[in-house]
Amino acid sequence: MLFNPEPKTKVEDFFNMEEELRQFRESLNVGKLIIVSGLRRYGKTSLILTGLNSFGLDYVFLDCRLLPSGMFSINDFLSLLEDELNRKSWAKEVLRGINGLSVSGLSLRFRRRDQNILLNALKNLEGKVIVLDEAQELRRSNYRFDYLLAHLYDHVNVKIIVSGSQVGLLYKFLRVDNPEAPLFGRPYLEIKLKRLSAQKSKTFLERGFEEEGLKVPSEVIEEAVKRFDGNIGWLTYFGYSYTRGNETIERIFEKASKLSVNEVKHALNVYGLGRRRYVEVLKIVASGTSLKWSEIKRGIEAKLGKIPNNTLSNIIHNLVNQGFLEKTGGEYTIPDPILRNGIIKYL
Ligand SMILES: Nc1ncnc2c1ncn2[C@@H]1O[C@H](COP(=O)(O)OP(=O)(O)OP(=O)(O)O)[C@@H](O)[C@H]1O
Ligand SMILES: [Mg+2]
Repeated sequence: MLFNPEPKTKVEDFFNMEEELRQFRESLNVGKLIIVSGLRRYGKTSLILTGLNSFGLDYVFLDCRLLPSGMFSINDFLSLLEDELNRKSWAKEVLRGINGLSVSGLSLRFRRRDQNILLNALKNLEGKVIVLDEAQELRRSNYRFDYLLAHLYDHVNVKIIVSGSQVGLLYKFLRVDNPEAPLFGRPYLEIKLKRLSAQKSKTFLERGFEEEGLKVPSEVIEEAVKRFDGNIGWLTYFGYSYTRGNETIERIFEKASKLSVNEVKHALNVYGLGRRRYVEVLKIVASGTSLKWSEIKRGIEAKLGKIPNNTLSNIIHNLVNQGFLEKTGGEYTIPDPILRNGIIKYL
C-alpha cells in the first residue's frame, strides 16, 4: 500500500522511482561505495530496501539512528550488527567458526566485543551488501568508523551503501574530498533523491486513495499537493492520516509541523547553552523569505544583542550541515515548508 508509513520494502508499494532504482542497480554493478542522499523523508531508506530486495541481494542493514545517544562504543555497534545478523537466515552459516562468536539455538552472539571480532565478522560478509543508514551518526564515537570503511573498501569484497538525511554531516564524516582522510580518493557514486513534481505528487495521492478505496475531492488533492511540496514522506503521512483519521488537511499539516519541529528540538539539544541562538536563527529565517547572511545577523542582534561574525557563521554552517537550512545563491531558506511552519509556530 502506498500510504503505509513504514519505509517501503517491495516494488509493489514503491511509487515512481524507476529511474532511481535503475541508477541504484547500475551503481551496485560498477561501484563499491554508494551514497544515497536527500532531505528527510525523501525516500532514501525505501529506495535502498526496495532496491536490494528486488535485486535479490543479501545485505545487512544498520540503522545508525538506533545507536545510543551521546558517544557510543564499538560494543554498541556490535550490538546493532548482532541484532541485524540475527534477522538473516544466512548469517549463522556465513559466520560460523569465528573466534569469540557463539551460536546457540537460534541466536548468534559476539562474546568478545572488540575491533578484531568486528573486522572478522565483516570479512566474512564477502559478497554481501552493507548498508549504513544515517551514517553521519557514526561520527559520535571514539572508534574511527571512517578508517573501518576505508579498510572494507580496500580489502573486503563487499558493497557499502551509506545514506543520511543530514547531508553535510554525512560528507563531514566520509571526508571523501579531504586528502588527509582515510577514504580520500576512493571512487564513489551518489544517488541524490529529489522532491516529486506537482504532477507526480498528484498521481501519488490519487493512486494511494484509490488503493484505500476512498473518494477524495480533487480540491483536497490539489491543496495537499501544494502544502506538502513534493516530499513523498509528508504525502504518505497526509494520505495515511486522511484515510484513517478523517482529519482536515489543515490539522494534518499542523500535526506534521509539530512532528518535524520536535525532531529539530531534539537535534538542537547538542548545543547546550548555545541552543538559544540556533533557535533564533531558525525563527528569523523561517519568518523571512530568503535571507542574506547580513540580514540574519541584523535579526539576531536585534533579538539577542551582539554576536561575533564567526560564531554566527558557525551556527549557520551547522544548521546547513544538518539539512535544516539551505543556502542557494547566497540566501538562506528552510527547504521544508512543513518544518518552516513548525518553526514559526512551535519552536
Ligand atoms: N517510492 C516510494 N513510494 C511510496 N512511498 C514512499 C516511497 N519513498 C518513501 N515513501 C514513504 O515516505 C516515507 C519516508 O520514506 P523513507 O523512510 O524511506 O525516507 P527517508 O528519506 O529514509 O526518511 P528519513 O530521512 O526520515 O530517514 C515513508 O512513509 C515511506 O513509506
Ligand atoms: Mg531513512
